[in-house]
Amino acid sequence: MEAKRAGADVAVVSLLYPMRSHSVAAQGGINAALGNADPSDSWERHAFDTIKGADYLADQDAVEEYVKDAIERVLELDAWGCPFSRTEDGRIAQRPFGGAGFPRTCYAADKTGHAVMHTLFQQALRLGVTFYNERMAVRIAVDGGRAAGVVTLNLRTGELERYSAGAVIMATGGAGRIYARTTNSHHSTGFGMALAYWAGVPLKDMEFVQFHPTTLYGTNILISEAARGEGGILLNAEGERFMARYAPDRMELAPRDIVARAIWTEVLEGRGFENEYVHLVISHLGEERIMERLPQIWELALKFAGVDAREEPIPVQPAQHYTMGGIDTDKWAQTRLPGLLAAGECACVSVHGANRLGGNSLLECVVFGARAGAKAVEQASRSNSQHGEALERAEREVDSKIEALLRRGREEGAVNPYGIRREMREVMWSKVGIFRDGRRLSEAVDRLMKLRREFSERAGVGCERRSFNLALADALVTEGMLDVALAVAAGALARTESRGAHYRTDYPRRDDENWLRHTLAFYTPEGPRLEYSPVTITRWPPAERKY
Ligand code: FUM
Repeated sequence: MEAKRAGADVAVVSLLYPMRSHSVAAQGGINAALGNADPSDSWERHAFDTIKGADYLADQDAVEEYVKDAIERVLELDAWGCPFSRTEDGRIAQRPFGGAGFPRTCYAADKTGHAVMHTLFQQALRLGVTFYNERMAVRIAVDGGRAAGVVTLNLRTGELERYSAGAVIMATGGAGRIYARTTNSHHSTGFGMALAYWAGVPLKDMEFVQFHPTTLYGTNILISEAARGEGGILLNAEGERFMARYAPDRMELAPRDIVARAIWTEVLEGRGFENEYVHLVISHLGEERIMERLPQIWELALKFAGVDAREEPIPVQPAQHYTMGGIDTDKWAQTRLPGLLAAGECACVSVHGANRLGGNSLLECVVFGARAGAKAVEQASRSNSQHGEALERAEREVDSKIEALLRRGREEGAVNPYGIRREMREVMWSKVGIFRDGRRLSEAVDRLMKLRREFSERAGVGCERRSFNLALADALVTEGMLDVALAVAAGALARTESRGAHYRTDYPRRDDENWLRHTLAFYTPEGPRLEYSPVTITRWPPAERKY
């Protein structure tokens, strides 16, 4: 929309019908220091909470701009008609969230992502943005050292299509599906990250993976932090409000990495239910408040766990939720490949560092989405050719990959890509999860490298249908998932410290002397090559994180 308003020709190429994109599942809210619930809040406090929550790995110059832009962007959403919940006097309501010093999270009941997405989609249609839906981007074309457009697989027809562009913005979401347990939709595979990685752009800080503390036991559907923001409490099987042991000041509203580790410690030490989950209790909030503020949580618990949260505790356990790392960008969403930008969860600016605060993710989409739009217009004005040859070359490369998958699918002994994917997801959950150590991480890297080789040499697709050949599309994606998973595991193995969501039982302390730096993973066929870059500190010197 920012690019369109600046007069550019804009097309959105979307894997899904846009309203099925994963942001519709965002529940609890979007942060901005509006001061509606407490006038002492300020952008400086928002910045500090974000940086402390990030365990000081966030770039502080980027965070300052991000939280300042937040206010304008949320008011803009409001002006565009986003149906935010309201205070008695009609202002945007704000609720407490984990790691935040003030009630700062603006919300639309517990369906904020849904409300934000509808607003943006309607406004984009009003502006005349063109949407090409059910097209999966499969290659970024590079011409003379700049991004020249994308090749897509049209899922309806099975044809490869070429889109020439002066600038390309990746907005392809996170990589949750590389884990066996995740809140993320089936389409949050990290494949967009892989496309940028293959085009020569490094992935930054991939070892920092967020595990949301409260996901519904059995399905791992998100049970929003808003439930705790509204006063929900966590109890173990002994009926104990165990957060008092881990974060006595903030209790259930400590940052997510701390609450997730606390829950998992309770489970591992035998104080969970069925060695798997703890209880989230909201019944004391009363029916009226639950139905007004948390209606979706109530409905999800009832439909997917048979639990009526007005009367019964909700069984919850941690699961992968968010990818802090991503395509390396600057604070204007620009990658080091001219013409290629990235915004939202697929990108790493970095404003979330080692641990993102709840409510900062939808915000990241609108702040850096707008910045990407503005910069894309500038970058596109420097490109005037149609890049025909680069696009044809990129298409030929994808075509030969597809041919190889189909050919092997006709041969004896072909390996099913879904089996490779399933094993990768289990390896990531069991060896690159909430608690990590050198032995299991190096086993994970070895296993993932073997799976990667197996994929290249033996993976085959038996179905040759053109239209909606999801087996073929998923096979292409699986290759990207393996490379993204390897970047996560290799970064985690190399980082011999604990910081934010990356917790090493063999290195339980944060080590600023050696590790106050970003990891950059560059793609090579032999596995990721790691480099490091400094973290920008402006006015908040790293300090011990206590809650
Ligand atoms: O718990 C939640 O509602 C999630 C919010 C977020 O990830 O920002």
